[in-house]
Amino acid sequence: MDQNAKKQAVAKAALTYIKADSVVGVGTGSTVNYFIDELASMKDRIAGAVSSSQASTERLKAVGIEVFELNDVDNLGVYVDGADEVTEHKHMIKGGGAALTREKIVAAVADTFICIVDNTKQVPLLGAFPLPVEVIPMARSYVARELVKLGGDPVYRQGVTTDNGNVIIDVHNLTILNPRELETSINNIAGVVTNGIFALRGADVVLCATEEGVKTFD
Ligand code: 5RP
Repeated sequence: MDQNAKKQAVAKAALTYIKADSVVGVGTGSTVNYFIDELASMKDRIAGAVSSSQASTERLKAVGIEVFELNDVDNLGVYVDGADEVTEHKHMIKGGGAALTREKIVAAVADTFICIVDNTKQVPLLGAFPLPVEVIPMARSYVARELVKLGGDPVYRQGVTTDNGNVIIDVHNLTILNPRELETSINNIAGVVTNGIFALRGADVVLCATEEGVKTFD
């Protein structure tokens, strides 16, 4: 089974968590794109979606799913999103698609975070994937110097502006032994909007597509 077939399989598996008449939190990325396509098959049975990016909003609307502003939604049962890395503790690195801040906000609101990945994303320790950090543009150099002090090698993601008008620094060569601590430390640097460690609010359920089918970790 190739990686795209795995993404499609895990996207379909996530549908079992969607309740009738609910508003669904929707993440960003290629795996989530498969999920949006699957969600379209039950669009008449859900109230709509809250989206974590312009890209997902456009795709949701294109398949006929209504997109609500997060501020207009009282309750979000389920948030479905991919990840760049995920551990057995359901800690993740996210933000490969530069949508990490809105993803973190929607994840914070949701009762249940369903992480959908294929098995290439499973890791024993976070950090091989460069850690995305969203930064206010005027703070870019300062934040980069502070990230060096934390042991990383920051690289400015050229040509990318986030949906919030900010820039992304990808931090290479971090060995993340304590994800919660590092998530907090990086978020405390002035000028950082948020970073792509999702450990303080990790996933509740990880659905992982493997050669043997979709495995559930909850
Ligand atoms: C976007 C994300 C994505 O969830 C992450 O990059 C995984 O994407 P894909 O499913 O394309 O591998 O965090 O900001």
